[in-house]
Amino acid sequence: MSSRPSTWNVPASKVAKRAHNPIRQIVDKLKIDPNAQKQLISLALGDPTVFGNFNVDDSCNESVIKHLQSFKANGYPPAHGTEQARAAVAEKFNHPDAPLTSRDVILANGCSGALDLAINALCSEGQNMLIPRPGFSLYDNLAVSRFIEPRFYNLVPERSWEADLDHLESLIDENTACILVNNPSNPCGSVYSEQHLRDILALANKHHLPIIADEIYCDLVFAGNTFYPMATLTKEVPILSVGGLAKKYLVPGWRVGWVTVHDRNGIFREVHEGILSLSQLILGPCSVIQCALPDILHNTPQAFHDKTIAQLELNTKVSVEGISKIPGLTAVIPQGAMYMMVGVNVSEFKDISDDVDFTQKLVAEENVLCLPGQCFGYPNFFRIVITPPADRLEEAYSRMKEFCARHHI
Ligand SMILES: Cc1ncc(COP(=O)(O)O)c(C=O)c1O
Repeated sequence: MSSRPSTWNVPASKVAKRAHNPIRQIVDKLKIDPNAQKQLISLALGDPTVFGNFNVDDSCNESVIKHLQSFKANGYPPAHGTEQARAAVAEKFNHPDAPLTSRDVILANGCSGALDLAINALCSEGQNMLIPRPGFSLYDNLAVSRFIEPRFYNLVPERSWEADLDHLESLIDENTACILVNNPSNPCGSVYSEQHLRDILALANKHHLPIIADEIYCDLVFAGNTFYPMATLTKEVPILSVGGLAKKYLVPGWRVGWVTVHDRNGIFREVHEGILSLSQLILGPCSVIQCALPDILHNTPQAFHDKTIAQLELNTKVSVEGISKIPGLTAVIPQGAMYMMVGVNVSEFKDISDDVDFTQKLVAEENVLCLPGQCFGYPNFFRIVITPPADRLEEAYSRMKEFCARHHI
């Protein structure tokens, strides 16, 4: 006898039910008025292409067009990426202290896909992983949907968002699978010193914990700062570094990312196999962009990267100056990436209860949209994306100033 129900009842799966994005609930409160008098200025979206002032280099477009027109880039690539594309990534990131070959590279659907592979390969249901707070929300979402417990280690704004290592260590137990480090950081705009990265690595080594290094903002660092790929600073700790084209090459929609496996001592043998197996479930990124990858990584002129940094540095200056003139707000000066975190001193305002309330009222009254810190697990801060043109940023800060003056005690 069938034990099938007598009527229709089709529930979503356990994974689907856990796959919700908690940020939506916060962002949905930020209502944009389509009839607002002032034009919307969005400082919310980490997509540098939206204002038209950050554009991909012509050479990248030309390479994509060349391969598109060759009729040779339309087939299924191998699941983990073509040999040429993987070799290009290996060559780009190869370092005497962190040697790479094409075997160590797995291509993925953006850096998000690379994170998915890395987290899935390292963490099992019931284990926990250590992730930064404030941090990019995808880490939390991916972990929770796979029944992995996210444990948040604190970053310290007074120390340019360095990790609180004592706190980090206190979270480690026998079920900890890995530590995730994001450098340069979204949402903080921080760039860690060599010493701080070595200190994190020493902890990882002490507890025999592998690291996922999210280095999607690699090289997007401002004068006076240096980006150190984490894998170049250790011979002991195995590292999965994840990256992609999205930010440095200004093409988030092209959806090319990668995992590079840094395993000097054969510790990741099974994990490496595991990533390859996971990558075979669904093929990697678009074949045309894979064909263009060697050109993109090796032939994009340095002047393009210099221009991107110069624009970001100018926008940082405008942003730091703009916020410094607003009583009740404190900016933590960014060292790289595309973001700035701003603290809201709630006690200085007569009718602002927290960061969500602040951003909600700001968009309602001034049509300036920012994401509240709670989206990154960090209340009473909000995040500014610093990629809009400088004049838009200036206008946004002038509106913020008026808003704060109205609500200040
Ligand atoms: C820290 C961080 N990691 C990963 C990603 C995902 O990058 P992609 O667009 O290549 O999936 C982002 C995107 O904003 C990010 O900020």
